[in-house]
Amino acid sequence: MILVTGGAGFIGANFIKEWLRHTSESLINLDKLTYAGNLANLADCAEDPLYQFVQGDICNRELVREILEESQPRALINFAAESHVDRSIHAPENFIQTNIVGTYSLLEEALIYWRELPPEKKEQFRFLHISTDEVYGALSAEDPPFTESSPYLPTNPYSASKASGDHLVQAYGKTYQLPVLITKSSNNFGPLQFPEKFIPHAILQALDGKPIHLYGDGLQVRNWIYVLEHCQALRLVLEKGKKGDSYNISSQTELTNLELAQHICALLDELLPNSVFCPHASLIVHVADRPGHDRRYALNASKALRELGWSSQGNFVEDLRTTVKWYLAHPEWIENILSGDYHNWVQKHYRGA
Ligand SMILES: NC(=O)c1ccc[n+]([C@@H]2O[C@H](COP(=O)([O-])OP(=O)(O)OC[C@H]3O[C@@H](n4cnc5c(N)ncnc54)[C@H](O)[C@@H]3O)[C@@H](O)[C@H]2O)c1
Repeated sequence: MILVTGGAGFIGANFIKEWLRHTSESLINLDKLTYAGNLANLADCAEDPLYQFVQGDICNRELVREILEESQPRALINFAAESHVDRSIHAPENFIQTNIVGTYSLLEEALIYWRELPPEKKEQFRFLHISTDEVYGALSAEDPPFTESSPYLPTNPYSASKASGDHLVQAYGKTYQLPVLITKSSNNFGPLQFPEKFIPHAILQALDGKPIHLYGDGLQVRNWIYVLEHCQALRLVLEKGKKGDSYNISSQTELTNLELAQHICALLDELLPNSVFCPHASLIVHVADRPGHDRRYALNASKALRELGWSSQGNFVEDLRTTVKWYLAHPEWIENILSGDYHNWVQKHYRGA
């Protein structure tokens, strides 16, 4: 049995599906169902006897304690987070609460639970915390990619809250010997991503013939990983990762946001040759840059290869094609999302863009 938090979001839902496809071990998903949590992401798991969902907040220590005591998991994997940089700039409070206080609550309860376990189960238990490349801050074009020993230099409320959470996880590992692991991945893409994030947002805008918004000159560079590859790496880290260590997870695909938008538009032209919006690249427009926008993120994932035997095998354009096709094939999923809070938020923040 494992306990997953934040499993109704993008990466967590992909992880749970992947887990249930590849193992016969049961899993509990604790998720608050914020605007980003969507049970439709897990509709096909709902009847699986190995899967159980609990709606609740990771900051609710009594609830976390109850779940740990009752389910006796061998691992806790924390995906729960406020995850959108733009939202963190407009309203940081939820980020402080979930990404810092929530992580602390999970650590405290995991520590209480872990200390009472019999020796064999104590040795087996892992607390795997999912983090991000953004904790390292930004790189210039010439810098080598970040390694696990690069210093933390977060630059916005989201990355600062994730960095704080990571520091707490590391501290619980060092101070109390709680068997912790941290992964830091680059930008994920794939099915089920909430359409405030760049790739699904661009696809949905283009389908409606609306502008594809690019911040500033669009030359900010991001490192991309297909979400299912990330999920496979997480399973390996859980099984083979060294207690107390952290692992970067990424591919070597580095693209500017402009190049990424052009790839998406080329795929839409290919998949929808009769669309009146071809060429979709004509929909790309530049809008005012995000405050404090980091210029480049890139990760060196050679430690994962060296220690876990994992490296990205993905083909970016093929995986992006699969992703675009998924959004084209799931209009009901999109409709469900668009009728909710996302709609109001995008209206408010992209008005006039
Ligand atoms: N998406 C990316 O590209 C990316 C890249 C690197 C790291 N990460 C990290 O991976 C993790 C998952 O990211 P995602 O993109 O799936 O995020 P997401 O926003 O899609 O999902 C977050 C999930 O957490 C839940 N949640 C939020 N606050 C909660 C709380 N207080 N208690 C319980 N559940 C809560 C939400 O309901 C949602 O289901 C995050 O920690 C994020 O920082 C994401």
